[in-house]
Amino acid sequence: MAGRWPVVVVGSGIAGMWAALQAAPLPVLLLSAGRMGQYSSTRWAQGGIAAPLADDDSPRLHLEDTISAGGGLVDAEVAGRVVALAADEVRALEAIGVPFERDANGDWTLSLEAAHRRSRIAQVRGDQAGHAIVDALVAAISRAEHVTVRENCPVHGLVAGANGECAGVKVSDGSGGMRLVPARAVILATGGLGGLYAVTTNPPGHLGQALAWAARLGATIRDAEFVQFHPTAIDIGLDPAPLATEALRGEGAHLVDRHGRRFMPAVHPDAELAPRDIVARAVFARIRNGEGAYLDAREAVGSEFPARFPGVFAACLNGGIDPREQPIPVAPAAHYHMGGIAIDGNGASDVGRLYAVGECACTGMHGANRLASNSLLECLVTARWAARAVGELKAPKRLQSYSRLDVPALLDERDLDALRRAMSKLAGVERDEAGLSELLDLIDHFEERHGAVDALEAARLVATSALSRTESRGAHWRSDFPRAAPLAESSRITLPQASTANRGGTKPKQGVDQ
Ligand code: SIN
Repeated sequence: MAGRWPVVVVGSGIAGMWAALQAAPLPVLLLSAGRMGQYSSTRWAQGGIAAPLADDDSPRLHLEDTISAGGGLVDAEVAGRVVALAADEVRALEAIGVPFERDANGDWTLSLEAAHRRSRIAQVRGDQAGHAIVDALVAAISRAEHVTVRENCPVHGLVAGANGECAGVKVSDGSGGMRLVPARAVILATGGLGGLYAVTTNPPGHLGQALAWAARLGATIRDAEFVQFHPTAIDIGLDPAPLATEALRGEGAHLVDRHGRRFMPAVHPDAELAPRDIVARAVFARIRNGEGAYLDAREAVGSEFPARFPGVFAACLNGGIDPREQPIPVAPAAHYHMGGIAIDGNGASDVGRLYAVGECACTGMHGANRLASNSLLECLVTARWAARAVGELKAPKRLQSYSRLDVPALLDERDLDALRRAMSKLAGVERDEAGLSELLDLIDHFEERHGAVDALEAARLVATSALSRTESRGAHWRSDFPRAAPLAESSRITLPQASTANRGGTKPKQGVDQ
């Protein structure tokens, strides 16, 4: 029986669905917290997938751009492996029905995003890539005989067997308790942690749960302090905040203050197309100074807005803004977690039978600042790695013994709101020692009140790693340490280290990145 246990994939964004498809012919059980793909960040992706598909482009140029955006921390070997597969992965998605844009001659129509020296984003109807990718993947999964899908089945944690390996996942037993779903291996593909912040572009519920689950089993978390803030979330008071894709700046839209003055040319030679961390800090500074920040696409896109960027157009109209006539108010929002569960080139964490792919994992590809549209690409490649690796695992011989399955602790809504506001204020675009210590005090306080809640542990991993990194690098900006240290080091932390590191305890280990 044990030999027939499925590979359990948790999450139904691009990484989870791709891993499930690639794991054939192994039986896969795909668990989705809601309807398939519905609440994944993938579905909300506007840009598309970065790949060197144009004649004037190459994996080498793509790799160079990835490295130069990454603040000195990109693992060049990993990034090289990923970009080398990019064009094939985009073609593989096209083959299952994703209608990437091509012109009348059949050539790719690629968009340009910040810090890319070439137009290399495979897109779908301007800003519709996420929807189209999810629709095609859901259809492919429904045709895949080796995949069983369970929708509306949230996972509440991982279960460790007596030998320390991951024995499966914990789900509700329907009567107030928890039960084990045993697995040959578990592949986590749950996305990021933007929901820990008050202002985020992530779908609701993305609170870094997988980080907490994996860390409780002993997994190492890498580079947790690197949270990417997207500079142009539409600032109309919605939670989550809708995104105004970077492709708009690629088309020539400008960032202006409330007087209509452009501010990016004075900040960076690439102006609006500077690396994302730089643009986010410039927008943040204008808002803090009371000058405001707006994306003016009237000239660059104008009357073509509804046809070329239907998603952004609808979001603007919903907020009472007509982007053909008015600049769009924007603000930085937590968008993507560069850090995550440390994985190797097989998608494996350092816990047996536990794999992680996509945003909840950290390969080191993005370093301290992800290059736009490299994330869906990394999802595809890491999913393929993990799917191949689980196929090579020996099936477990028998059900491992495991301890009683606790019902997970939860934060109430009021304390979750307070945590999110504190994360935005104290571990946001700008951080310092006093603020991060205050944040850790709040996390301690909430933990005393509620117990070991996933969201609190994920927040603790971010805050502790941010406190420990006494330099500014990529998306991690310390106002009390505004320079980069001479040596770029990646950080690694475990949950016990995070719990004792609070102001004066063990510091997370920083290992030299290659
Ligand atoms: C965007 O469309 O601006 C977001 C793309 C990304 O985050 O990769």
